[in-house]
Amino acid sequence: MKRFFQSIRFQLTTVLVLFVVLTMVFVTSVVINSVRNEIFSVETKRIEVVADQLVDKYQKLYEGNALQWDFGHLTLDKQKFYLQKFLKPAFDEYFKNLKKSFPELEMGYYIPPIDNQVVYLSNPRYKLSKKLTIIKPIYTKKMQKGYVFVDEPYPIIMRPVNEIREESNRVTVYSALLAALFVLIVTSIFTFKIVKIKKGLKVLEKDLDYRLPRFSGEIGDIAISINAMAESLKKNIEESQRNEALRTLGLFTAGVVHEVRNPLTSIKGFAQILEKKLSGKPEEKYIKPILRETDRLSRIVKDLLNYGKPTPLNKTKFNINKFFGIVVGLAKQFATNKNINFDVKCDDIELYADEKKCEELFLNLLINSIQAIEKDGDIKIRCKKEGEYTKIVLSDTGKGMSKNQLDHIFVPFYTTKAEGTGLGLAIVYRIVKEHGGRIDVQSKKGEGTTFEIYLPT
Ligand SMILES: Nc1ncnc2c1ncn2[C@@H]1O[C@H](COP(=O)(O)OP(=O)(O)OP(=O)(O)O)[C@@H](O)[C@H]1O
Ligand SMILES: [Mg+2]
Repeated sequence: MKRFFQSIRFQLTTVLVLFVVLTMVFVTSVVINSVRNEIFSVETKRIEVVADQLVDKYQKLYEGNALQWDFGHLTLDKQKFYLQKFLKPAFDEYFKNLKKSFPELEMGYYIPPIDNQVVYLSNPRYKLSKKLTIIKPIYTKKMQKGYVFVDEPYPIIMRPVNEIREESNRVTVYSALLAALFVLIVTSIFTFKIVKIKKGLKVLEKDLDYRLPRFSGEIGDIAISINAMAESLKKNIEESQRNEALRTLGLFTAGVVHEVRNPLTSIKGFAQILEKKLSGKPEEKYIKPILRETDRLSRIVKDLLNYGKPTPLNKTKFNINKFFGIVVGLAKQFATNKNINFDVKCDDIELYADEKKCEELFLNLLINSIQAIEKDGDIKIRCKKEGEYTKIVLSDTGKGMSKNQLDHIFVPFYTTKAEGTGLGLAIVYRIVKEHGGRIDVQSKKGEGTTFEIYLPT
């Protein structure tokens, strides 16, 4: 529930609905106010006219009667008598007719010499409204003054105003609903991407190879950044795993190799003596595999020693073209039964590095490339300066590697070859790192492999 209230959807909807409702209420109140003022001013004028008419009529009737009976010479009682007898019926008659013409208006009059109370023709309990009632005084020559009043019942005037209010309430509700719907649609589009990213991150937690889908806009930028972060995290993890493996292996091999080397030398020595002794005899055939296998073991021991006890770098300056001339010459010995075209194109660069170790580095790479080419193929070497580094690209048209293979090639003892030890690339990696360089690899199964080595110049 708390999550719901904190959600973007809820907050945006609330804000927009509130905004719409407040705006509508404000607009309605402005409109209603001006409509009401307009109605009041029109109605006021109308009942003013009716009230004037009543007063006018009374004055005329009174003056007519006064002339007829010459009020100046009559006693007050006589005057009252005449008024009651002649003026009142005539005025009442007029009043009734006028009332008929304006049935919606409330009217009344009170004239002391004629009446004891106010005359109301419609609702006797009618209360005068402050806003509209027009009260007009009536004067006669000697008599007390009286008055007429005309009024418009409030609910009748307010009817159109109320209609507008009702209509606007309806519009407010519809607008709020529309706004909510609009926000829901917009946030759905918006949160669809966020939900995708959230789900993607969950997958990423378990599988660093997963990549978030591409989106447009800022969310897309976030997805791209997350993908880049995952990529570099993966690289870092792999590198630290590799370094850890290398370290453990270094400690381990130093001990084992030391124990194996001496007996191996004895075995090889005695086998060579035996080979001479058995020369020409049928048992000679048993000695050959012993020598072959001890040679293989010696090679492994040498690799492991190299690996376990890294010697300090012995850096010298050497020309890269000359260097590759020698290394490729050495590598060609491993390609005698294949038809491989070696193509070296290097800028004239002086490299400052450990030449022996670099030889081992590139020989390992070249031998791998030769082994990856079944019969015919190309091996290319390109070198050029790139900033503070010399970039050496070595590519072959061999069998290439799958993604899974690529993830493991630098791990010591990882090999897919029957006769391999899986130390070649682990040594390559170590030498590059010792020089403060970097190594990248791209490969496609069935198409070939490219190694990029960056060495500080
Ligand atoms: N150029 C390449 N083309 C295709 N696969 C390669 C290439 N280089 C390396 N590999 C793959 O990487 C694996 C590891 O190579 P690495 O050089 O470390 O060991 P190896 O060649 O198998 O044995 P060795 O210790 O004799 O070098 C190889 O077994 C091979 O599967
Ligand atoms: Mg190898």
